[in-house]
Amino acid sequence: MSTTAKSPEGHRRRTFAIISHPDAGKTTVTEKLLLFGGAIQLAGTVKGRKSDRHATSDWMALEKERGISVTSSVMQFPYRDAMVNLLDTPGHEDFSEDTYRTLTAVDSALMVIDAAKGVEERTIKLMDVCRLRNTPIITFMNKLDREGRDPMDLMDEVETVLKMDCAPITWPVGMGQRFRGVFHLLEDCVYLANGKQIDGLANPELDEIIGDQAQELRDEIDLLREAGNAFDRSAYLAGQLTPVFFGSAINNFGLKPLLDCFVEMAPMPQPHEATQRVVDPDEASFSGFVFKIQANMDPNHRDRIAFMRVCSGVYTKGMKLRHVRTGKDVRIANAITFLASDRDHVENAYAGDIIGLHNHGTIQIGDTFTEGEPLKFTGIPNFAPELFRRAVLKDPMRMKALQKGLVELCEEGASQLFRPLTRNDLIVGAVGSLQFDVVAFRLKHEYGVDCQFEPVGVATARWVHCDDARMLADFKDRQSDNLALDVSGELAYIAPTRVNLQLTEERWADIEFYATREH
Ligand code: G4P
Repeated sequence: MSTTAKSPEGHRRRTFAIISHPDAGKTTVTEKLLLFGGAIQLAGTVKGRKSDRHATSDWMALEKERGISVTSSVMQFPYRDAMVNLLDTPGHEDFSEDTYRTLTAVDSALMVIDAAKGVEERTIKLMDVCRLRNTPIITFMNKLDREGRDPMDLMDEVETVLKMDCAPITWPVGMGQRFRGVFHLLEDCVYLANGKQIDGLANPELDEIIGDQAQELRDEIDLLREAGNAFDRSAYLAGQLTPVFFGSAINNFGLKPLLDCFVEMAPMPQPHEATQRVVDPDEASFSGFVFKIQANMDPNHRDRIAFMRVCSGVYTKGMKLRHVRTGKDVRIANAITFLASDRDHVENAYAGDIIGLHNHGTIQIGDTFTEGEPLKFTGIPNFAPELFRRAVLKDPMRMKALQKGLVELCEEGASQLFRPLTRNDLIVGAVGSLQFDVVAFRLKHEYGVDCQFEPVGVATARWVHCDDARMLADFKDRQSDNLALDVSGELAYIAPTRVNLQLTEERWADIEFYATREH
């Protein structure tokens, strides 16, 4: 069921994620943005906050206990003429794969920096990921209500460490105790923290209200205009320049100018590459890919949700879609969206939107859905885990439940299940050790399974491939003790040591060993 091309609805979409080092203020910024969008009535409903929000599930209890946000969610809200899709990403580094995949589903990102700390380690890593696709970045320097680093220094650091030019759009008037507001360079207007707005930097009213700080501000702006970068939208869209905003998220100051500029300058839905061709968002025919699967989001439903980014066309309720990997046509009657904490049934979704599909185990991360064209979107990898443990049951009678739980949780992609060909072990691989705690916790609370993770003699894993069927059969025969199937039934070599992997790779030169498995 196609609708006309050049859908203006798609052009209104602004789909982005927030990247930051933990504690820089991502949750606070998210809450304030949602408030502007009218998506929530009260700040404090965003998940994963350290403070005293009541948990709506045991799962959130773990987040609370650990003080981390481990689930990504999607929030849609209208703002002015735009429809904004904000994709949350877990801040903890043990969940970096999840974040990586979420970043494949956005058209731009907002980088939040703590002005007292500057560019931190996790931000650098996330920027590396953004750079792979030249994702346009807007920067918010947060916590100006506290004594922080000199704003010029902060911009220098972004330029040298993150290798992006900075173009300030707003500029702080003082900081810490002397923080009075921000000057908007494009509007030539001072927004004071008390809500007052003064037009024109030269306006004498400014001197009356902020005294000596008025002249300081003028001097700084003169310097900026002489030596700084002017905003250049094409450089921003190419990921070479970042517009910079200053403010204090906790006081909801400085974010409105950011959001106003964001909806105007941020890119609308961008084309996506498939193996066969590039798909344009204006194409009439529907296409989308799954970048995330999450189990048991709602403890009352016990379902798994596949998050799909719409790349082209329009989703309409009840339409039939081709699940390209399985070749099956499925009717999608009840796709969902995630409006703040509520799930609403969507009638229509356009390029740039994210929809949630109920998944009963058939959908995998990376799957493409179309109206019939056998497209396969690229660029959504699965990383080889670095840590491996064997799942050991306390009550052997719960084996079935353990298997079910592990399969479902590992389908989410954050941890990976390997089943050796020659043993009955269940080996879980993860990129960070916190994953094992999360899996054990969820097995207990969501599947009623008590299980422990014990050390196992696996150092690393590689997905193996060989076009020569006889060679592959020979390899499987001789190496069967070190081979396993992953959750999708793909063959993987689980090496007892790195040296063993190296030797095996040398010995079997015609077999290909992959550290990532592009789904
Ligand atoms: P995160 O999601 O990036 O991890 O950061 P989050 O928003 O949870 O903020 C981390 C801490 O920084 C929180 O304090 C939060 O209140 C504080 N914060 C956020 N924005 C600002 C700001 O503009 N100014 C100041 N001074 N602080 C800010 P916390 O005490 O660790 O947690 P909480 O108990 O307040 O939630």
